[in-house]
Amino acid sequence: YFNGQWLEKATQNQETQNQETQNQEIQNQETQNPLSPVQLRFSDDLYSDLQQVQIVACGTSWHASLVGKYLLEQVAGIPTTVHYASEFRYAPTPLMPHTLTIGVTQSGETADTLAALEMEQERRNHHQGSPQGGDYRPRLLGITNRPESTLAHVLPNVILTPAGVEVGVAATKTFMAQLMAFYALALDLAHHRHHLPSDRLLALVSALHQLPKQMEALLRDQEEPIATLAHEFVDTHDFIFLGRGINFPIALEGALKLKEISYIHAEGYPAGEMKHGPIALLDAKVPVVAIAVPGAVYEKVLSNAQEAKARDARIIGVSTIGREADMFDDLLAVPPVDELVSPLLTVIPLQLLSYYIAALRGLDVDQPRNLAKSVTVE
Ligand code: M6R
Repeated sequence: YFNGQWLEKATQNQETQNQETQNQEIQNQETQNPLSPVQLRFSDDLYSDLQQVQIVACGTSWHASLVGKYLLEQVAGIPTTVHYASEFRYAPTPLMPHTLTIGVTQSGETADTLAALEMEQERRNHHQGSPQGGDYRPRLLGITNRPESTLAHVLPNVILTPAGVEVGVAATKTFMAQLMAFYALALDLAHHRHHLPSDRLLALVSALHQLPKQMEALLRDQEEPIATLAHEFVDTHDFIFLGRGINFPIALEGALKLKEISYIHAEGYPAGEMKHGPIALLDAKVPVVAIAVPGAVYEKVLSNAQEAKARDARIIGVSTIGREADMFDDLLAVPPVDELVSPLLTVIPLQLLSYYIAALRGLDVDQPRNLAKSVTVE
């Protein structure tokens, strides 16, 4: 099905994007209102009779998509699957009608993500009018941070995240902007489908509105303690990150950030899986970061962290200040927050911890070895 035209375009885009155009891009974005909202640019019938969503992405964008899945299922009530774009290209899901396919890529140029979306468009176009009937139209939606990217040009429906140019190879602010895009999408869909009671929807919107102040407070109160704590891990070889529910993808993202910029081996797991294997790795030399925010899985994560502590692991909690927090050896405190919007706060201490450990190891946090900002080859 796949004829690769979009990839050809991506390669041309990459070749023509010289320093001059990148500088222009930075200038344009700097003159924009930095608080401009996520822009939803899509047709009205994108949602009609929607039965499922499938998301394709790579790396950090894949982690954001896992948070997106949680929101689309729990807030908007739509069954959602998330695929590595590189896998989906060669093993796509069986075709189902009334499906929205979302491609998430901050650069808008990732080869696997573009190829997966192009393949999806072409196989759905082939299927149109087949005897099975049903609505198999391609409904493709992109989430990107770059309005001039291939993705933004080839897709009719796009959510543009207004994070500004991200210079560092490790995605941080674009990750947060992708999360915001998924909150906007899930709330919009929930509203259309009347999935959540309106008071719960309003409570979520209000929790989102409080985030900028909470982020400022978190940065103000935590940056220095995290910079100090980082000294303790400069020579550490392995880390485990645990989270559950909506914070499981944040455990994955925390581990990826640490790997990418500090070159320390790190694994993220859903906390309940720890006893199914990773617990064998634990001892006093393997710190465990546990993301535990009061809510549906709070007690569960605390009990998983307790099990790790019983194996002599040093436990670093990303949690709110409270009685239970005493069980952590170190606390990276986040302000009290609705569990459903907590990823936007819990990821910050993890980004800072990776940053300070890498800096103390004398590494280039913007240009880690072996990595490129966008991967335009398969
Ligand atoms: O531009 P994209 O969002 O498609 O990039 C996907 C990944 O290559 C990217 O997220 C990569 O994992 C980053 N270096 C993560 O920090």
